[in-house]
Amino acid sequence: MTGSPTPRRSTLLAPVPVGILISGRGSNMEALVRAAQAPNASYKVVCVIANRADAKGLQFAAAHDIPAVVVNHKAFDSREHFEAELSQTLMAHGVRVVALAGFMRVLTAGFVRQWQGRLVNIHPSLLPKFKGLHTHERALEAGEPEHGCTVHWVSEGVDEGEIIGQARVPIKAGDTPETLAARVLAEEHTLYPACLDKICTALRSPQTQST
Ligand code: GRF
Repeated sequence: MTGSPTPRRSTLLAPVPVGILISGRGSNMEALVRAAQAPNASYKVVCVIANRADAKGLQFAAAHDIPAVVVNHKAFDSREHFEAELSQTLMAHGVRVVALAGFMRVLTAGFVRQWQGRLVNIHPSLLPKFKGLHTHERALEAGEPEHGCTVHWVSEGVDEGEIIGQARVPIKAGDTPETLAARVLAEEHTLYPACLDKICTALRSPQTQST
């Protein structure tokens, strides 16, 4: 027989290397890391990058033996140079999928194109409603009966990429932005790992492996 030998099953089903970008607390990053600890998880978190040295999530990553890297945007003279360093760091860790988790920098079209189809985000609203900031306040002010969160592919328009999954919560009488945020956040911690698992399960299936 000619051609390359069939790769071993264990090689085909290796977890997809994921890099996570954060700016602060990192509770979604934590949820993603914890889900990846399950036996035979579809992805493995290979690095966590923060644009601020004081991002609290860095401590969790380091405590779990995940490379925790600071790429301080203020140290660069342009967005492009900052993002070139981000990409360099992600590639140096072999990252195949990038998960934004409370990463508070808008990414340029160049970065988005470079990671197109491999870059996901979680947003605390039921997109396309309430793109941008202060989503919980705005949902309350608008008198919405429900609110929630969305995991979506990142495209060039902010919070406009194709939706991968959503979770809904009711808005209750007496809710404040804080009580509503807490209810939504609990859903984020389930939704994001589930969506990332779906993506990575598809990516590591034998049909999509480039061997
Ligand atoms: C989350 O609400 C997420 O949806 C939004 O920013 C917040 C980050 O929280 N993009 P954390 O840092 O993951 O705790």
